[in-house]
Amino acid sequence: MRQAGRYLPEYRALREGRDILELCRTPELAVEATMLPIRRMPLDAAILFSDIMVPVAAMGVDLRIDPGIGPVVADPIRGHDDVWRLRTLDPQAEVPFVLETVRLLRKELSVPLIGFAGGPFTLASYLVEGRSSRNHERTKALMHADPETWGHLMFVLGTSMAAYLRAQVEAGAQAVQVFDSWAGALDPDDYLHFVLPATRELFGSLAGLDVPLIHFGVGTGELLPLMRDAGATVIGVDWRVPLHEAWERVGYDVAVQGNLDPAVCLAPWEAVEKKALTVLRRAAGRPGHVFNLGHGVLPDTPPEILERLVDLVHERTEGSTRAWEEGS
Ligand code: CP3
Repeated sequence: MRQAGRYLPEYRALREGRDILELCRTPELAVEATMLPIRRMPLDAAILFSDIMVPVAAMGVDLRIDPGIGPVVADPIRGHDDVWRLRTLDPQAEVPFVLETVRLLRKELSVPLIGFAGGPFTLASYLVEGRSSRNHERTKALMHADPETWGHLMFVLGTSMAAYLRAQVEAGAQAVQVFDSWAGALDPDDYLHFVLPATRELFGSLAGLDVPLIHFGVGTGELLPLMRDAGATVIGVDWRVPLHEAWERVGYDVAVQGNLDPAVCLAPWEAVEKKALTVLRRAAGRPGHVFNLGHGVLPDTPPEILERLVDLVHERTEGSTRAWEEGS
């Protein structure tokens, strides 16, 4: 998450004088941004450089992404008429530049490429609040005041993101991740009722694609068993739940991704090493752990720390799955 981002001086140079949406919409530049972290350290996968709001803008929503703030929607969605005006995304016609970026990246990369989209609750929150929100109050109010309109919003976003992810896979993405980053703001009843149905349809429609489907959110400790039921094959978890407990909650027949606290990467290496080894110990060499941070790389992270972290994880996990299978 934010594998390419402001912590990298070479990313800041590429961004200099350019809007982030311009970067996302220009295939040669988006390829370059994706490649920057891969050139610097031996990562096991690349994540497409884009933003969750790129397809939403293509659906006709007037928005920008402001540095230090995030997405800002010009006319936030406030009710029935606004929701019914949203049109479903046609990926080939409306985001051809993303699909071209994926095709170009596959020629360039020697590690797998992860495509992604925003999850329905997170996208709805940006659309309704108009920007990042601590309490998501307008979003939750709409959900409870007008469940039918909310249901339609979830349906349009879910269907659009399903088409978008399918198009990325057809263009060459070898795994896809749904970032429902802010879903953890909901209690389990509301998640079950108001978000899970659209998410389940989203993953259900991708099930035939034969690529790993990753489902991630922040602060989802209480939602993990429900998220598991949404149908992804990999569940991403933040740092708030110890990895072995998260895995127990979702079941050992799905893979887990995570879950080092990104803020730890601002501490001296010895602290980072200790916390990373705790994550690995909790994964216990069991097949199906994807080591990752529990959320995006923070802008003040020293790149050298991440380089050492990648090396550490490689050193400590070489052959570990085989050892686990042999029961040693
Ligand atoms: O991981 C990668 O390298 C791929 C790039 C990526 C970006 N956004 C580029 C970006 C990914 C995976 C995203 C997803 C995204 N965007 C999410 C879901 C993941 C998560 O972090 O929970 C969300 C919620 C957004 C919305 C968004 N875009 C926010 C909140 C911000 C931060 C605003 C800020 O300046 O702090 C952005 C901007 C953004 N998107 C950056 C990057 C690298 C920040 C750097 C920049 O402005 O150039």
